[in-house]
Amino acid sequence: MADSNIVKKNMATMRKFPFISLLVFSCFYLQVYNGRVSATDTLFQGQNMTTLGQLTSYGNAFELGFFSLGSTDLYLVIRMKNVATKDIVWVAKRDLPFTGSSMILTINDGGCLVIVNGRATYRVSDDPSSSQNVSATLLDSGNLVLRDGNMDILWQSFDYPSNTFLPGMKLGYNNKTGKVWSLTSCLDQADPNKGNFELKMDPKKSNGVFLMRGTEILWMSGPWNGYGFAFMPEMLSPYIFNYFNYSMYSDENETYFSYSLYNSSVITRFIIDVTGHMRELLWFEESQQWMSIWSEPRQFCEVLNSCGPFSSCSEDTTSCRCLRGFYPSGK
Ligand SMILES: *[C@@H]1O[C@H](CO)[C@@H](O)[C@H](O)[C@H]1NC(C)=O
Ligand SMILES: *[C@@H]1O[C@H](CO)[C@@H](O)[C@H](O)[C@H]1NC(C)=O
Ligand SMILES: *[C@@H]1O[C@H](CO)[C@@H](O)[C@H](O)[C@H]1NC(C)=O
Ligand SMILES: *[C@@H]1O[C@H](CO)[C@@H](O)[C@H](O)[C@H]1NC(C)=O
Ligand SMILES: *[C@@H]1O[C@H](CO)[C@@H](O)[C@H](O)[C@H]1NC(C)=O
Ligand SMILES: *[C@@H]1O[C@H](CO)[C@@H](O)[C@H](O)[C@H]1NC(C)=O
Repeated sequence: MADSNIVKKNMATMRKFPFISLLVFSCFYLQVYNGRVSATDTLFQGQNMTTLGQLTSYGNAFELGFFSLGSTDLYLVIRMKNVATKDIVWVAKRDLPFTGSSMILTINDGGCLVIVNGRATYRVSDDPSSSQNVSATLLDSGNLVLRDGNMDILWQSFDYPSNTFLPGMKLGYNNKTGKVWSLTSCLDQADPNKGNFELKMDPKKSNGVFLMRGTEILWMSGPWNGYGFAFMPEMLSPYIFNYFNYSMYSDENETYFSYSLYNSSVITRFIIDVTGHMRELLWFEESQQWMSIWSEPRQFCEVLNSCGPFSSCSEDTTSCRCLRGFYPSGK
């Protein structure tokens, strides 16, 4: 169920988000930098972005740069610029931490987005189908798109989700290419490497969403019924229903779940955290914090098969313990 008390308490706040100031600011910004604004959200082929540089989306919602997640390592990340907590929504190569400050982000002659660190070069994007006049633009949706001279998209970060599902992203699969859009938890707060939990759709099962730990199903949304998922009545609660436009798309090639916002002033993100919990969060400007409006599994211990027989589940650590008098079977 939705955290209805929190929701009610913040309904009033919701109605008067001071987003107007953000809009005014971005118009001002556009005027001042008129003609050169593309230089701040776009990296052109041959240009270098150093660790001191950033790309900022045109409406100031997101920025791309080399940032730390808490340790001394730096990663190439996209983070939210318009919230005080500067949450990271995407990490370029999750297993690629950098130390020092000599890294450069650039688009090479082959049209590939790469990180150059001394003599080493790491690809961020795939091999492009075109290598002329390629540019990388950070859109205000949080999507980093690599485009050729005709503005055809060669590669986009939304196709490679980390642990965050933003409006406009896909969760699903392409049956023709085998491409899967899934979310994977981080190893821990400071290490964005892939953790144990993955949220995905399964081409062989009904068109529901599954939370997996390896091959084990921990939670399932139930099938899509045209409005929401069968086991998620909270999706139809007025609050969520009024703000979020959830949809399921399916054609001969692709099947995916996605969502958009009816009110573009609302700031939200959906995450799968280190412990495998999923949350839809809303930013409250007045209290300067994220509120969880939906989370699953509600109780980790209620998850299917989360602990075997003769064991108990600890909510804090999401780990299993033997009941008094029993011992681990050594499995
Ligand atoms: C959109 O949200 C903002 C902030 O909550 C609010 O001020 C505005 O009235 C909303 N617009 C609509 C059409 O609901
Ligand atoms: C970009 O960086 C590369 C490698 O350090 C360097 O060779 C090149 O001259 C730089 N280009 C620009 C435009 O600064
Ligand atoms: C690349 O840009 C240059 C300068 O704008 C233009 O002359 C050229 O035709 C473009 N090439 C392609 C393949 O788009
Ligand atoms: C995708 O392929 C699987 C088998 O690999 C099949 O069961 C499923 O129906 C296909 N989905 C669509 C939408 O065609
Ligand atoms: C809701 O989402 C669907 C599917 O993406 C889209 O076609 C429709 O325009 C959206 N509705 C609104 C009001 O944004
Ligand atoms: C499915 O993919 C094929 C080729 O991969 C393409 O020709 C076709 O237009 C696609 N169908 C849809 C509905 O996009």
